[in-house]
Order: sequence, then structure tokens, then C-alpha cells
Amino acid sequence: MDGRAEPRGLTEPLPGGTDVGSLRALARSLACEAGALVRDGRPERVEVAATKSNDVDPVTDMDRAVEELLRRRLAAERPDDAILGEEGDDTPGTSGLTWVLDPIDGTVNYVYGVASYAVSVAVVAGPVDPERWTALAGCVHSVVDGVTWTAARGQGAERDGRALRVSRPDSLARSLVGTGFGYVPERRARQGEVLARVLPRVRDIRRLGSAAIDLCLLAEGALDLYYERGLNPWDLAAGALVAAEAGAWVGGLHGRGPSSTMTVAGAAPVVEDLVRLLEEADADGPEPPVRGLAG
Ligand code: IPD
Ligand code: CA
Repeated sequence: MDGRAEPRGLTEPLPGGTDVGSLRALARSLACEAGALVRDGRPERVEVAATKSNDVDPVTDMDRAVEELLRRRLAAERPDDAILGEEGDDTPGTSGLTWVLDPIDGTVNYVYGVASYAVSVAVVAGPVDPERWTALAGCVHSVVDGVTWTAARGQGAERDGRALRVSRPDSLARSLVGTGFGYVPERRARQGEVLARVLPRVRDIRRLGSAAIDLCLLAEGALDLYYERGLNPWDLAAGALVAAEAGAWVGGLHGRGPSSTMTVAGAAPVVEDLVRLLEEADADGPEPPVRGLAG
């Protein structure tokens, strides 16, 4: 498994008369401006404005305000690009580029005041599908500590300007593995079963609550491996590019690319052992109903 299935860099001109370096700079400035809004505007007690997939999947007024800010800025700066955001309707475009926005990744942490939440901004070319798009640039801005990870296709990944390389664990048994869980009980029940297969085989597990930050921690070697089922495109768009540009293999199971079915990341060859273990555990298999669930 190679960290990069395609050659580094894009040789052909990008649609919309731009380059990946400018897109990276724009992603960074958008994410940092949005991050300041989240940081400065967080009330002492955060109210949940609504819920989404079920009643433990929260949306706050801040999620919506941040996405509106990002959309306003993009409409002014890149009016021909499309937008896919977690909290709004899809905005079509004509340039062939799509901005993929997660206004707050780690909303549960934001609600509770746990310090791991981020603004994630990425721009992709091609179909709006993580298995098929070409991610061009992205930024994940961790709101509480201000750490900012960026990547541009073919130009590497950085944390606050410092170039990143993934760790090279010598075995699965000595790997620190990040993961996360969905909001829906059936998915969680299955994820718990898979976790029971993974946990005895690795150094330890971390569930930090923001997939975007997890992927960036992987990029800098603070996690050795990462896997999660059920990510949305906006959860992984920027973080997966940061990880890949830091040398990670990022993919799915059974030869697939990263997707909502499964996203796995880490340095070869040990990531292959994790992929094999997840395949053996049927980690992307059926999610049977959970009996005895009451309200
Ligand atoms: C969630 C976080 C979490 C992951 C969930 C995501 P949200 O995003 O990334 O770490 O485990 O799958 O849905 O809801 O906080 O934007
Ligand atoms: Ca998210």
C-alpha cells in the first residue's frame, strides 16, 4: 500500500484559474476566522438548538452561524465554486471545485466544553464523493488551542507552518489507534463489537470526539492509526488530505477508498494489519437492530 495512489501534485491548471497553494491559504484564513467566532462566541452554557440523526446528535446556534459565515465569505471570494456543508443546503457551482465545510467538528465536545473541536474547510475537484474526489487543499483549525493544520495536494501537510510526517509504528501491537462512533444505536452496537476485536491487539485506543482532529493527530504522529465507520464527507475532507500529505495511506476496506462505509489511515505497512483485522471483524458489515431500546 502506498500513501499516495496518484502522483504528487496536479500538473494541469485548476478550474477557476487558481492553484493549490492559494486554495490552501484561503482554507486557512476561512477556518481561522470561523474558529475565532467559535472561541469568542461560546457562551458559558451551550444550548442544543436541534438534533439530527437522533437525539444525541446535536446542532447548536454556533454550528449554523459558523457555516453561514463560511458560506458568505466563499460567495464573495469564490462565487463559481459549489459548497457542501454539514448545516446547509448544497450550493451548486460552475467551476468544478466544491468547498466541503464542517463548521464545528466535535459538536458534542463543544457543547460540553471538552477542548477537542475544530473548524474543517476543504476544497475538492470532481464528484462530491470522498472515494472519487481529488482533494486539493484543506485546513483543520482546533478552536481551543488555536493549532492549525493545513495541506495542499502535492505540497505536503503542516502544523502551524511545520512540515508533518506520520509515525512509523513497528507493529499493530505497539500502535496507538484513534477511532470514533456514530450517533445511531445500531451503528454503535456494531462499533462496540468491532472495538472488542481491535482493543486487545493494539497499544491502546483514543476516542477524542473530532474525526478532523484525529486525522491531523495521525498526520503529526500523535496517533499511529485511525479508523472509523460512518464519517460524513465534511468530517474527513480536510483531515484525510492532511494525513495523506503527511505520508499516510488513507483508504477503506476491501480495496475501496475512504468513505462513510469505512475510513482507515496510517503508515504502511502496519495500516495493512489494521485493514486485515477490520475486514476479519466484518467492520463494514450489517448493523442489526438493537433490541430493547426505549426512547
Ligand atoms: C463527529 C465527530 C466524531 C465522529 C463522528 C462525527 P460532528 O462530527 O467527528 O469524532 O466520531 O462520527 O459525526 O457531529 O461533531 O460534526
Ligand atoms: Ca463533523
